[in-house]
Amino acid sequence: MLPLYICSAIFTLLYFAHVQQPTAAQITAPWEVNALRAIRGSLSDPNGFLNNWNRGDPCVANWTRVICYNVTAKDDGYFHVQELQLLRLGLSGTLAPELGQLSRMKIMDFMWNKITGSIPKEVGNITSLELLLVNGNQLSGSLPDEIGLLPNLNRIQIDQNNISGPIPKSFANLNKTKHFHMNNNSLSGQIPPELSRLPSLVHMLLDNNNLSGYLPPELAQLPKLLIIQLDNNNFSGSSIPPSYGNITTLLKLSLRNCSLEGPAPDVSGIPQLGYLDVSWNQLTGPIPSGQLASNITTIDFSHNRLNGSIPASFSGLPNLQRLSLDNNNLDGSVPSDVWQNIDFSGNRTLILDFHNNGLTNLSNPLTPPANVTILLSGNPVCQSQNQLNIAQYCQSTPEVTAEGGSIDNSTLCAPCATDFPLESVLKAPNPCSCGVPLYVDYRLKSPGFWDFVPYEAQFQEYLSSGLFLNSYQLEVTTFMWEEGPRLKMTLKLFPNNTILFNSREVERLRYMFTGWLIADSDIFGPYELINFNPGWYENVLSRGTKKSLSTGAIVGIVIAAFAAAAVLSSLITLIILRRRSRQFSKKRTAKRIPMKIDGVKDFTFEELSNCTNDFSESALIGQGGYGKVYRGVLADGKVAAIKRAQEGSLQGSKEFFTEIELLSRLHHRNLVSLLGYCDEEDEQMLVYEYMPNGTLRDHLSAKARESPSFPMRLRIALGSSRGILYLHTEADPPIFHRDIKASNILLDSKFVAKVADFGLSRQQPSERRGAQHQPSLRKMNCLFVWSLHMYIYGCWCMDVCSMCRLCFFRNCALLLLVEIFVRNL
Ligand SMILES: *[C@@H]1O[C@H](CO)[C@@H](O)[C@H](O)[C@H]1NC(C)=O
Ligand SMILES: *[C@@H]1O[C@H](CO)[C@@H](O)[C@H](O)[C@H]1NC(C)=O
Ligand SMILES: *[C@@H]1O[C@H](CO)[C@@H](O)[C@H](O)[C@H]1NC(C)=O
Ligand SMILES: *[C@@H]1O[C@H](CO)[C@@H](O)[C@H](O)[C@H]1NC(C)=O
Ligand SMILES: *[C@@H]1O[C@H](CO)[C@@H](O)[C@H](O)[C@H]1NC(C)=O
Ligand SMILES: *[C@@H]1O[C@H](CO)[C@@H](O)[C@H](O)[C@H]1NC(C)=O
Ligand SMILES: *[C@@H]1O[C@H](CO)[C@@H](O)[C@H](O)[C@H]1NC(C)=O
Ligand SMILES: *[C@@H]1O[C@H](CO)[C@@H](O)[C@H](O)[C@H]1NC(C)=O
Ligand SMILES: *[C@@H]1O[C@H](CO)[C@@H](O)[C@H](O)[C@H]1NC(C)=O
Ligand SMILES: *[C@@H]1O[C@H](CO)[C@@H](O)[C@H](O)[C@H]1NC(C)=O
Ligand SMILES: *[C@@H]1O[C@H](CO)[C@@H](O)[C@H](O)[C@H]1NC(C)=O
Ligand SMILES: *[C@@H]1O[C@H](CO)[C@@H](O)[C@H](O)[C@H]1NC(C)=O
Repeated sequence: MLPLYICSAIFTLLYFAHVQQPTAAQITAPWEVNALRAIRGSLSDPNGFLNNWNRGDPCVANWTRVICYNVTAKDDGYFHVQELQLLRLGLSGTLAPELGQLSRMKIMDFMWNKITGSIPKEVGNITSLELLLVNGNQLSGSLPDEIGLLPNLNRIQIDQNNISGPIPKSFANLNKTKHFHMNNNSLSGQIPPELSRLPSLVHMLLDNNNLSGYLPPELAQLPKLLIIQLDNNNFSGSSIPPSYGNITTLLKLSLRNCSLEGPAPDVSGIPQLGYLDVSWNQLTGPIPSGQLASNITTIDFSHNRLNGSIPASFSGLPNLQRLSLDNNNLDGSVPSDVWQNIDFSGNRTLILDFHNNGLTNLSNPLTPPANVTILLSGNPVCQSQNQLNIAQYCQSTPEVTAEGGSIDNSTLCAPCATDFPLESVLKAPNPCSCGVPLYVDYRLKSPGFWDFVPYEAQFQEYLSSGLFLNSYQLEVTTFMWEEGPRLKMTLKLFPNNTILFNSREVERLRYMFTGWLIADSDIFGPYELINFNPGWYENVLSRGTKKSLSTGAIVGIVIAAFAAAAVLSSLITLIILRRRSRQFSKKRTAKRIPMKIDGVKDFTFEELSNCTNDFSESALIGQGGYGKVYRGVLADGKVAAIKRAQEGSLQGSKEFFTEIELLSRLHHRNLVSLLGYCDEEDEQMLVYEYMPNGTLRDHLSAKARESPSFPMRLRIALGSSRGILYLHTEADPPIFHRDIKASNILLDSKFVAKVADFGLSRQQPSERRGAQHQPSLRKMNCLFVWSLHMYIYGCWCMDVCSMCRLCFFRNCALLLLVEIFVRNL
């Protein structure tokens, strides 16, 4: 027994020397750790999402939603926080001033919580900050001038809070900022004319505030401006600067309910204008008669004091969806050919809202296509009952609103699984195939159209290609219009031709949304991420970033490995010497074949067939001499790997149950565990837990996109050897794997190594082992494990030094020889 103790002691020693020491050497910058503690301290976290924010080191122990740079900084040797991703965690409390200490942070995301207090001025110290995302909270106070000093800021997203005070003039220095999303706050005062210096600004969303003063004509100098959205502010009595008609880049001008006076703007010189809304003001005079851009979808002059007649220039606009001129003082005749250039295929509609004006006559009889709605009530022309057909356009008019909708799921697919998480991929090329989706709540903040239906296919194309997905992988499950108007959608993302996304793909998709990496579209405008719900994949996202070890740590490991080798060789001598002088005897009772085994479920053939889609090709994940392996989702939602034996490969039911009995006894973190089996209809199947990260071979092979980092390999090596150690020393009777190779080491979602395939095809029935062999076997096990460990360490070290990817398991034959040698001693 003594050698065993020595073995495990040295093992433990080595473990700490190799795994703990490097992590102790590499830590997060202490001031950032303190800052994170302070940030956590001033937040209240009723759901306990941040409970691990007091355990260990933030970047090493992967604090929830803290993303660090993957290597230590060259200048100070510490890890640094790169992102705080605290989207929708139900947090309340305030933002700690210590945020300013995270000076290398790029993304600060506190969206959709219940945080109160103000934005601390120290945010101005985060010089790397690119995305400032605090929208959807209850922040108040004013905007700190210091934010204007952030040289890398790309996006200020503070909308839907109660932030008051003026927009600081210092914001005019933000020459990398593209997005001002500050709508739905209590901002007041004048829009600083200095903002016209912003060279990169594309979206200026300041709607639903208390801004006052005048509209600065200078904003026309903004060279990249696409959207001006200032609805629901109070520019009491000032007029729309004529210079706005010169912003040639503009796609959308929305000035609804801003208490504006003076003439309606002439925007006929804006070549790509798609959306014009100046409704609910006190504009006077005639509607400018210049021809608007052919891109225009929405024209809203309603609720003003405009007079004169309806210009002929509204006719022939091919993309028009809505022309609202209602509640003005317009006179003259009703235009009869606005729709002349519109192609009404593809569910296009057109609303012409002229009600409550002074229109007196029809120039021509109204004969619009079925898809055109004309509203004329409240005009004198409705009194001329002799006009043909006029009555149908003169009925009192309810508010006309654009429709929401949901995907047509009427082509009934049989449910994929009776319960979560599998769902039908309705648009898949192979209809009714199944996958486990990701869910995204998404909102267009400032769309360039009034009716989404004709743009649905284009949207599908835009977003799926922006995410680098096939179009069918994106499902717009529902869409609905909200005040603004904003278009809220629920989306599902499905994996490509498989049931599950791999963890890397889930990470990538999340990052596309949370990092605002999806290119903006002219017609769809900016988006809001309301929620990214990984659903079934939740655990996949909890990992932090991978890190590399420093040279010092590697040198330490190499030295330790050599030292261990020296200890080992003396150990070998000791064991061999002692072996000759000792005898053990211990009786082992042969186990009966049990018919019910605790913790291992007896599945029916039908259950397993259902959860693998009739053992379809799409569920196939592997194949070998014993048969095929399928991926299936069990009734309880667990994903499983189902090994279906080829006919005749498991001779006789006795041996099959011996396997199950054996595997059901083995429980170790580094062994794949058995969930159940099926023995029915001449079918013999074993159901294992599913390992989302595949085999180690996949990751080491030359085809792998990135090989695992050194610490990860080390963990994998340690993990696999611990699994093997368990088989040799703890299992009763001991089990020899005899087939250790990279393809038999599986990796779970957290890259924990698990040894697989230790029974099915190669297990030696325990009866064959003579009882008198056991003691020496135990000693030799230890020896063998040590040879194995040293071999693995040696290879790992060589691997790192030589950068040879396949080194680790290159010499499996050697291992086998060692084992055969040991077993025949
Ligand atoms: C941190 O994440 C890495 C990989 O992403 C993982 O291997 C490691 O176990 C995690 N650390 C902790 C303490 O969970
Ligand atoms: C670390 O991150 C950078 C980009 O931030 C990336 O280019 C690099 O590949 C990453 N390295 C590792 C080991 O993941
Ligand atoms: C951080 O911000 C405070 C207040 O704005 C300022 O006094 C201090 O100098 C800043 N620190 C650094 C390192 O920039
Ligand atoms: C927003 O802040 C203002 C004061 O700045 C206050 O009068 C108002 O009640 C607040 N609104 C909400 C909804 O909290
Ligand atoms: C942005 O501003 C800084 C200083 O305010 C200046 O040095 C830099 O040249 C500016 N960049 C651009 C593109 O205008
Ligand atoms: C913004 O404020 C307006 C007016 O209070 C409100 O109608 C609208 O729903 C708000 N929008 C959002 C997205 O909160
Ligand atoms: C618009 O631009 C033209 C030339 O580009 C200039 O002549 C005109 O004065 C500008 N109008 C306004 C109102 O700035
Ligand atoms: C029009 O809408 C109907 C259902 O609303 C849909 O079935 C049809 O495919 C749509 N047509 C086009 C061309 O998009
Ligand atoms: C639009 O018109 C086409 C034919 O003109 C018709 O088939 C279609 O149902 C109409 N759609 C709507 C929404 O009125
Ligand atoms: C179809 O969609 C509706 C609304 O989204 C949903 O309630 C219903 O369960 C869906 N039906 C199927 C068969 O998926
Ligand atoms: C989807 O999978 C097919 C093969 O199954 C591949 O050809 C295609 O490139 C994949 N598409 C994307 C967007 O990954
Ligand atoms: C505007 O029209 C041009 C062609 O005239 C087209 O290329 C562009 O995509 C359109 N833009 C939008 C936002 O519809």
